[in-house]
Amino acid sequence: MSLHLLLPLAILAFQPRPGAFEDSTLSPTQEEPEDLDCGRPAPSARIVGGSDAQPLSWPWQVSLHHGGGHICGGSLIAPSWILSAAHCFVTNGSLEPAAEWTAVLGVHSQDGPLEGAHVRAVAAILVPPNYSRVELGDDLALLRLASPARLSPAVRPVCLPRASHRFVHGTACWATGWGDVQEADPLPLPWVLQEVELRLLGEAACQCLYSRRGPFNLTLQLLPGMLCAGYPEGRRDTCQGDSGGPLVCEEGGRWFQAGITSFGFGCGRRNRPGVFTAVARYEAWIREHVSGSQPGPAFPKQPQEPQPGPREPQEENCTIALPTCGKAPQPGAWPWEAQVMVPGSRPCHGALVSESWVLAPASCFPDPSRELDAWRVRLPARARAERVARLVRHENASWDAAADLALLQLRAPVNLSAGPRAVCLPHPDHYFLPGSRCRLARWGRGGPAQGPGTQLEAQLLSGWWCHCLYGHQGASVPLPGDPPHMLCPAYQEEEEAGRCWNDSSWSLVCREEGTWFLAAITDSFNGCLRPRAFSPLQTQGPWISHVTRGAYLEDQLAWDWGPEGEETKTQTCPPRTLHGACGLRPEAAPTGVLWPWLAEVHVAGDQVCTGILVAPGWVLAATHCVLRLGSTTVPYIEVYLGRAGASPLPHSHQVSRSVISIRLPRHLGLRPPLALLELSSPVEPSPSALPICLHPRGVPPGSSCWVLGWKDSQNRVPVAATVSILTPQLCHCLNQDILPPGTLCVLYAQEQEDRCEVASAPPLLCQTERGSWVLMGMAVQGSRELFAALGPEEAWISQTVGNVHFLPHTGAPYWSQGSGNLCPPDMAGASGSAPAAALFLLLLPPLIQG
Ligand code: ARG
Repeated sequence: MSLHLLLPLAILAFQPRPGAFEDSTLSPTQEEPEDLDCGRPAPSARIVGGSDAQPLSWPWQVSLHHGGGHICGGSLIAPSWILSAAHCFVTNGSLEPAAEWTAVLGVHSQDGPLEGAHVRAVAAILVPPNYSRVELGDDLALLRLASPARLSPAVRPVCLPRASHRFVHGTACWATGWGDVQEADPLPLPWVLQEVELRLLGEAACQCLYSRRGPFNLTLQLLPGMLCAGYPEGRRDTCQGDSGGPLVCEEGGRWFQAGITSFGFGCGRRNRPGVFTAVARYEAWIREHVSGSQPGPAFPKQPQEPQPGPREPQEENCTIALPTCGKAPQPGAWPWEAQVMVPGSRPCHGALVSESWVLAPASCFPDPSRELDAWRVRLPARARAERVARLVRHENASWDAAADLALLQLRAPVNLSAGPRAVCLPHPDHYFLPGSRCRLARWGRGGPAQGPGTQLEAQLLSGWWCHCLYGHQGASVPLPGDPPHMLCPAYQEEEEAGRCWNDSSWSLVCREEGTWFLAAITDSFNGCLRPRAFSPLQTQGPWISHVTRGAYLEDQLAWDWGPEGEETKTQTCPPRTLHGACGLRPEAAPTGVLWPWLAEVHVAGDQVCTGILVAPGWVLAATHCVLRLGSTTVPYIEVYLGRAGASPLPHSHQVSRSVISIRLPRHLGLRPPLALLELSSPVEPSPSALPICLHPRGVPPGSSCWVLGWKDSQNRVPVAATVSILTPQLCHCLNQDILPPGTLCVLYAQEQEDRCEVASAPPLLCQTERGSWVLMGMAVQGSRELFAALGPEEAWISQTVGNVHFLPHTGAPYWSQGSGNLCPPDMAGASGSAPAAALFLLLLPPLIQG
C-alpha cells in the first residue's frame, strides 16, 4: 500500500485527544485459559535494511491480497482472525468490500506457486469507528476469515499482549513483511519475506525525534496508541507494503505482537522511525469482536507479568541523529572525491556515495567490457587504490545526458569514519533553495589544463530564471518539492573572457546547514547561454539507492525558502521568441539583477545614456543622446550591462562591450530618433544581460507600463515610474498635431512624474499579460511624456539585427489605424497638461492603465 506521507503541504502536527491517555475500560479476566498456543515458531528456525527471513520463522505472517497482488501484511491471532492496519482497507473514508480481499497464509516466497501456503477468503473487515487517517491513530483492523486457517508449522498464531503489558524501551523486536526495500524500491524477486530488527523507542524519545523539523518542515504529534520502533540514524525500517504486518518481541520464549506497521515519513530516514499501532492498548476492542468465536485470540498470561508498573520514564534522553554524509573538513577538501583509473585513459572524477560505491559519468567508461581487474579507484586518505568489483551503467546513459551515470562497486567496502566519506544525495523531493552556496567540482574527465585549484564558488539562481531560459513557453515553474528539470548556478567565471567551458564537465555540490549534497551534474552542451544549466541528481536518487542499497540519500536540511516558494506557485514562463527567451525578469527574486536588459551607454567618457539590450550583440538608444547634433564623427561609446544599481548577484556580473557601429534608419529629411549600437562582441545571455522583447505594433493588450530610468545620472540606481500610454488620438490632440508619426504619449501615475531624470533618454517598457517585458520606445529629446515608438521601425530593426526578439503578432494591433482627427473641442490648448488629460481619461476607454 503506497501512502504518500511526504506531500510537502500535508500538515502532520496533531494534539493528543484529551483523556485518550487513560486506560481503557478493560478489566482483564485474571485467569483466562490460554485457548491457543501462540507465539512459538516451529523449532529450528524487508523492509528497509533487512534480510531474507528463514522459512517457518514467522508463521503468523499473513499476506493480504487485493486485485491479485500483495497489498498489506497481517498477523494470524486466532484460526479465523487476522490483525492488520485499518488504512489498508479504507479508501476515501469508506471500507472496501471484504469479498475483494484474500488472505494468504504460510507463505514464504511469493514468487511462483505458493507451495504449502493456503488461501482464505475474507468474510468481514472490522475497523475502529474512530479511524480516519493514520496520523490520527486507531490504525488497526480485524479480518474474519471465511473458514478457519489450518494450523501447521507454517501457520500459527502470534500472542497478543494484555492491555497492561508494557514493552520495555530499547528491546530489540522484529518487523516482517514483503514491502519495499527502500522508498519507491519494491522487494525484488523471488519476493522472500523480509525481517528486520528494530528497537522499541520510548514515547518521549520518539516524540523528540518527530518534533524536529523534518523534510518540508513537517513534524508529528504522536498519540496514545502509537508506538515507535527503529533507530535515530534510520536505515532500518518498514516501508510501503509492510503495513498491517506485525512487530513482535520475544518474552519468555514466546513472541508477542507489540505493534502493527502503520506509517512513517519516507522509509529509513534519519530521525523518522517507523510508527506502529500499539496492540496492547486495543485489547478490549479486539476481544470484544473476536470473543465468541472459537477458539478466541491468544492473550496468554504474561511470562513474568511485569506489573503495570512505572509508566514511561519521562527523562528519556533525546538523541537526535545528525547526517553522516557530506561532511567536509573545509570546502574544497572533498573527502568523497574519487578518481577512477582505467588503463589507457585519463583519470575520471567521481564521488563516493556509500562505503562500497562510487558514482561517476558513464561516458568515462565507453567500453565497459574492459577488464575491471586493472581498474583502480583513488580515495582521499587511503594509502592504496581500491579495486573495482562491478560497473553498473545507468540504462539511459548513452542517450540522456542527465543520466550519464555509472556506479562502480569497490571490491571491499571502505571505513567511512576514517578518511574517505560519502557525499549526501538528495531525495527526489529535495528543494535546493535559490541562493544556496554551492561549488563546482571536478566531474568526469574535466577539461584540459584545469589546474589544481579547480573549484568554483557558485550560488544557485532562482528556479524561475533557469526554467524560463531553457524551458518551454508557458511552462509552469516546478514547485518546491517537484523535481526540477535543471539547476542553474551563477559563478564567477561565467562572464570572464567570454569563455564557455564547453569541453569541461562539472558536478554541482551544494551546502545545506554545513552538509554537502551532490546536487547536479553538467548538462549537455547548452552553448554559451548562461546561467549554465545542470541536470539535477535528485531524479536519479531512486536508481542510485536501488543499485547501491545504502547510498546516503539525505533529507532537506534547510527549508526557509521565503517568498520564493510561494511565488513559484503561480509563476509560468513568458512566451519565447524564435531566438529564445527575452524580457525575463523574476519578480522580487532574491538573486538576479532587477533589469537585465538595462544598459549604461557611456558616450565619449562623459554623457551617460540609457540603452536597452535588444539582442546579444545590439543595444538600442535614443539618437539624440548618443550622437551630438551636427557632429559627424562617431564618438567612442562603451556599454555596461548587469551593473545598474546594486547588483544582488553573488559576484558583480558586469559585462562591458565597446560599440563598433551606430545604425540609424533612413528617414527622409528627419533625424531618426532611434539608434542601434552594434557591440564589439555579443554578450552571453544571463540574469545580468538578457535581451528585452519587442512588440510589432500598438501596445500589447492588458499590459502595464513604466518609464525606466535613474533618479540621478551619478548613482544610476534604476527607478521605474508607472505610466499609462495614451491613445494616438488623445496624444495628437494634446500635442496639437505637431508630433511626428509613431510618437507615444504617456501619463504618469500620481507623484511618479519626477522619478526619472530625462537627460539620459529613458525607455518606455510594458509588461504583457503573459509576463514578457517589451520595449515600447525611447524618450524624445527633452521630453518626459513623449517617446519615439519602436513598432513602426520593426522592419529596420529586424533587418539590422537579425536575431531580435519580436513577439509574434497578436491579431489586430491594439490601436485601430486612422482614428481620424476628432479632437474634442476643449482639448486644443491642453497640450501636456496632465490634469486636463486625466480628466479626459475618464471619458475615453481605450487606455492602458499602469
Ligand atoms: N503505510 C505503509 C504501508 O501502507 C507502511 C509505511 C511504514 N513506513 C515506515 N517508514 N515505517 O505499507
